Amino acid sequence: MTDQQRDSLVQAAGRVRTNAYAPYSVYKVGAAVLGSDGEIYVGCNVENVSFGLTVCAERTAIGTMVANGCKRMVAVAIVTDEGATPCGMCRQTFAEFADDATKVEIITASETGERQSYWLSDLIPATFRTELKVD
Ligand code: THU
Repeated sequence: MTDQQRDSLVQAAGRVRTNAYAPYSVYKVGAAVLGSDGEIYVGCNVENVSFGLTVCAERTAIGTMVANGCKRMVAVAIVTDEGATPCGMCRQTFAEFADDATKVEIITASETGERQSYWLSDLIPATFRTELKVD
């Protein structure tokens, strides 16, 4: 990925973060996934009064990607207050849509612009997998 692509992803994640629905935690998260088709797909966290129904920003973004006909991701940027790494459920969700987790870049960014990059394979090694039946 180029620095310009990284900047675009972080900017998209920062923009969508402002739409987060987080009245309970007051912790807004924005995510922007770069699909294998070169498009950027965004998502934010969507909370619910029945707390367990809350959906993370990362999984919302993956849902946007799949709904738009793309099934592979190459990178994701996530913007939070302090630059948090994604939760376990979201890591497993990324793994579902990664061809090679050693090459999928996870960029975390804080509100103040500090960034960190990780490989998906380092964040979730030995992922649960079975063979795809279709797709
Ligand atoms: N959240 C995310 O959007 N992504 C994560 O990886 C972890 C947590 C959201 C869920 C909830 O709305 C808020 O952050 C606080 O946990």
